[in-house]
Amino acid sequence: MSVEQTLTSQERLAELDLQQLRQLVGLVEYDAEGDPFPVTGWDAVVWAVGNATQAASFFQAVFGMELVAYSGPETGNRDHHAFVLRSGAIRFVLKGGVDPDSPLLDHHRRHGDGVIDIALEVPDVDKCIEHARAQGATVVEEPHDVTDEHGTIRTGAIATYGETRHTLVDRSRYTGPYLPGYVARSSGHVKPDGAPKRLFQALDHVVGNVELGHMDEWVDFYNRVMGFTNMAEFIGDDIATEYSALMSKVVASGNHRVKFPLNEPAVGKKRSQIDEYLDFYRGPGAQHLALATNDIIRTVDVLRSRGVEFLATPDSYYTDPELRARIGHVRVPIEELASRGILVDRDEDGYLLQIFTKPIGDRPTVFFEFIERHGSLGFGKGNFQALFEAIEREQAKRGNF
Ligand SMILES: [Fe+2]
Repeated sequence: MSVEQTLTSQERLAELDLQQLRQLVGLVEYDAEGDPFPVTGWDAVVWAVGNATQAASFFQAVFGMELVAYSGPETGNRDHHAFVLRSGAIRFVLKGGVDPDSPLLDHHRRHGDGVIDIALEVPDVDKCIEHARAQGATVVEEPHDVTDEHGTIRTGAIATYGETRHTLVDRSRYTGPYLPGYVARSSGHVKPDGAPKRLFQALDHVVGNVELGHMDEWVDFYNRVMGFTNMAEFIGDDIATEYSALMSKVVASGNHRVKFPLNEPAVGKKRSQIDEYLDFYRGPGAQHLALATNDIIRTVDVLRSRGVEFLATPDSYYTDPELRARIGHVRVPIEELASRGILVDRDEDGYLLQIFTKPIGDRPTVFFEFIERHGSLGFGKGNFQALFEAIEREQAKRGNF
């Protein structure tokens, strides 16, 4: 495969190259030959939100994303509004019901703002669906062509945890702004003077929360149905025993572009953050999206100045001699991290910097992580303890602890 072929259409549009992606999201070489379910990369994260018109404005004004396409009543779609936003290789599609009978509104009533579809770009939709079906997956959309004046998309979809799905998209014969039915659209939003071109470049991972006792089932689903492999990071219930606990395993596509940590609650002294999520999302769903940045300091400063709230990190995280020794030498003085609450994790391959926002909707469910990788292919396992303390202080404030 040529380099050109191994980049997704969004990555090419964002002018990212493989070297940058190796740094940003830990991309690895792999041989697609023999992969029963080859995945090129992320296609889009599709959200159901209570007010897509305002959410689109939020993601532009605050997260610095760019409006690129639209579907709605003006384009013949009387059911809902859909705004397609871009930052680097990341594409979000925000959907909100217009017709009071829209199924999106039923979904939103049950789950609140959340991810309904983690769509993946694949070279061969039929091959993937065929394999998924043979492995017992639920096919929610048979492979079919959708065509407009920009060409043809081949697409199909399978169900994953909860009411979440993976739509598979082959856009090799398509040049339009998103999908047939969408029109190119930009907005009058003007970036403030001195604002960075973009605050994040690529999607690193999407975490799924599943019910107690079901994590291994979903690990097996991704192994069997989608040919994903297990990554080393494993968090057992031995971690954070003083606090509510979780268990986590990570599966990844062959090239590691698509990484899915899967969490289940573990029995702790108090209700865990995963239990809280499952209660308020009314079942399994996407918990957080990690957005890769090459300058987390600047990203956090800009977002905070625009009102984004991050989880606070206890001072002891930076002053405790043991923790400080673990942090070691990173690209900025530790005070720069401490003043912003940015966490550090380290493994044999390098380190990573990360920070988590508070939930972005009304329910204590979905939130974002910002991550800057320096060689480490991990997910911040070493930070769970510090993180749990911070999350649980927030949970206690909401009376759910
Ligand atoms: Fe994460």
